[in-house]
Amino acid sequence: MNIHTYEKVWLVAAMVLIVGFIGTIAYGSTGVGIAMISDDEETIDPNALDEDERFADPRVEEVGENEYEVYVVAYQYGFDPGSEHITEPIVVPENSEVTFYVTSEDVIHSFSLVGTNVNTMVVPGEVSTMTAEFDEPAEYGILCNEYCGSGHHSMEGMLYVVPEDEFDIDDQEDESEGDRDEADQNNGESAGEDE
Ligand code: CUA
Repeated sequence: MNIHTYEKVWLVAAMVLIVGFIGTIAYGSTGVGIAMISDDEETIDPNALDEDERFADPRVEEVGENEYEVYVVAYQYGFDPGSEHITEPIVVPENSEVTFYVTSEDVIHSFSLVGTNVNTMVVPGEVSTMTAEFDEPAEYGILCNEYCGSGHHSMEGMLYVVPEDEFDIDDQEDESEGDRDEADQNNGESAGEDE
């Protein structure tokens, strides 16, 4: 059988491409440290967040010099803290390292800080953890980008990075009386009106 030279060239080129594609996928999935969510992480009961010491009172907490931890509950439809018109926004000082712990009390949501690489799914029963550094005062929108129901489009919030001299952790702890449950009902009503 006689194969035309051009055909041979294209056959070889196609093989090289296929091997190359398989190589890049293999490298991308094993070589650059990308991992799936680990199954060994401790799970929590999404129906008993009120009894969890981290999430009973979602808040910003100072854990060291310029180090903060933020505990956030995502729910239909908002973030507590985060959704400033329902509970309160998240406020952290500049030059800080902030670790976010986010869980959901109902369905799958996401927690995305627009313009940063903080972007994670939020799964009931799991705690999503991410650390970010904020060097300068700024405002970041918080979005849910997993479809979570009729009010998904309204699920948003704000994170404010404020100058150090304007930051007062005590202010926040006082304000942390989120009224998530009341908000649920209001949101349910307005979501109903939309339809
Ligand atoms: Cu929560 Cu979409």
